[in-house]
Amino acid sequence: MALYSEKVMDHFRNPRNVGVLEDANGIGEVGNAKCGDIMKMYLKIEDDIVKDVKFETFGCGSAIASSSMATELIKGKPVDEVMKLTNKAVAEALDGLPDYKMHCSVLAEEAIQSALEDYRKRTGK
Ligand code: FES
Repeated sequence: MALYSEKVMDHFRNPRNVGVLEDANGIGEVGNAKCGDIMKMYLKIEDDIVKDVKFETFGCGSAIASSSMATELIKGKPVDEVMKLTNKAVAEALDGLPDYKMHCSVLAEEAIQSALEDYRKRTGK
């Protein structure tokens, strides 16, 4: 069996929603101290809906695929739902990650949580 699923390879090669969101109202940046990878998530939230999302990931292929998939999973979704997104759900949507790469999907969950926290701080919600 291939180490990485086709979905992982697809999102790694053609990541969705890459870049900076100039009018973001929630920005989160997290890193993994062990591997040194960094992920930054930009959210544009309106009426409690994630209207737009972009990311910048300086990291491994699994981290790029995880952030890309995570943005697809949360775009257009209500904040309540986005809050509950777990790294497991991201990994499952990618048809799995090798065990030793699961921490890469954790970065995606943490980056989104951090962006939501920033949104709450800015808006007092
Ligand atoms: Fe660190 Fe993938 S190896 S995020």
